[in-house]
Amino acid sequence: TTVDLDDADYQLGSYANFMHKEIWEQPESVRRTLLGRLDERFGTARLGGINLDARALRAIRRVKFFGCGSAYYAGQLGANLVEEWARLPADAEPASELRYRNPVVEEDTLYVAISQSGETADTLAAVQELKRKGGQVIGMVNTVGSAIARECGSGTFLHAGPEVSVASTKAYTNMGVCFAMLALALGRVRDLSVSDGARIVAGLDSLPSLIVEVLGAENEISAVAKEHSGAERMFFIGRTRGWPVAREGAQKLKEISYVHAEAYQAGELKHGPLALIEPAMPSVVIVPDDELLAKNIGTIEQIKARGGPVIAVTNADLPDGLADSVIQVPRSEPELDPILFTIPLQVFAYHLAHHLGRDIDKPRNLAKSVTVE
Ligand code: AGP
Repeated sequence: TTVDLDDADYQLGSYANFMHKEIWEQPESVRRTLLGRLDERFGTARLGGINLDARALRAIRRVKFFGCGSAYYAGQLGANLVEEWARLPADAEPASELRYRNPVVEEDTLYVAISQSGETADTLAAVQELKRKGGQVIGMVNTVGSAIARECGSGTFLHAGPEVSVASTKAYTNMGVCFAMLALALGRVRDLSVSDGARIVAGLDSLPSLIVEVLGAENEISAVAKEHSGAERMFFIGRTRGWPVAREGAQKLKEISYVHAEAYQAGELKHGPLALIEPAMPSVVIVPDDELLAKNIGTIEQIKARGGPVIAVTNADLPDGLADSVIQVPRSEPELDPILFTIPLQVFAYHLAHHLGRDIDKPRNLAKSVTVE
């Protein structure tokens, strides 16, 4: 492939850097990846490149997602959706572990390789090792013609368009959207009802306009980021659906701001990390308005009781004064919250890094594609 550097994807236009541009491209890149793939009538999705008919989809007994860094965190989001909609056991693993630990490879497991660049050495090696053992591997890759896309042979392109900034934003979001479509297709050949399927299709369809709404709150999110830009470390706390959101939020902040950020499952706080809570340690808490709302409010109270500042990211109406800062997210279908909730955290990390004067597109020590082992 030749890359035309005059292409609009490689021009900043009015944006200060590529990360900002790519954050703002998300309504359009999500629209592009959904295009022609949703089936409203049957409440399902069709991912042409996967080449699995209904029978083959039904024969899958387990799904394993793998990739590196943010691609791996996105895989966790995908695994949750497969379990929820298809009721199949599913998990995510870093490709850099999978390739070395002599994995048990089962014929009825679907292995999903995830990569923006399609060139990540550890992910490519994991694909080769799984294939060598006879595993059924598909790719969820952004870059057409890349090594991982070619090695997988079948799969789905993310259609995020070229991503230039080292910190992944639009490719990450499109990973989430593509996994949702895969989970929906797996669910609809099993026990996910047509009405639930139609509800999810409508939810996916409305994501681009909800992302526009999230981005409309950029000034408010920037103000919250500025307020906390003196912190040397932060927790990102989530549970179940909020867990991949917390991990990716912490990843974005670390990468571009160099602030130490650690993601923790909410229920695990009391088993050690609560000892770190103090006024200089803000916690970003992911609070979707779902069946675990009361639990997440309890988590905020635990942190507040120990003097820790809380930034709540929520689509619920939280009691006044519960959190020190609130980033309000629009409501979507609850299962799609993890996709939408990550976007304000990209904006938060972006502005915090901006306040600190960091080189946002090219953070120190990092490369856009990690082709070394
Ligand atoms: C994301 O912000 C990071 N730059 C990094 O973790 C990245 O997701 C990882 O290196 C995997 O890259 P890939 O998707 O191109 O394989």
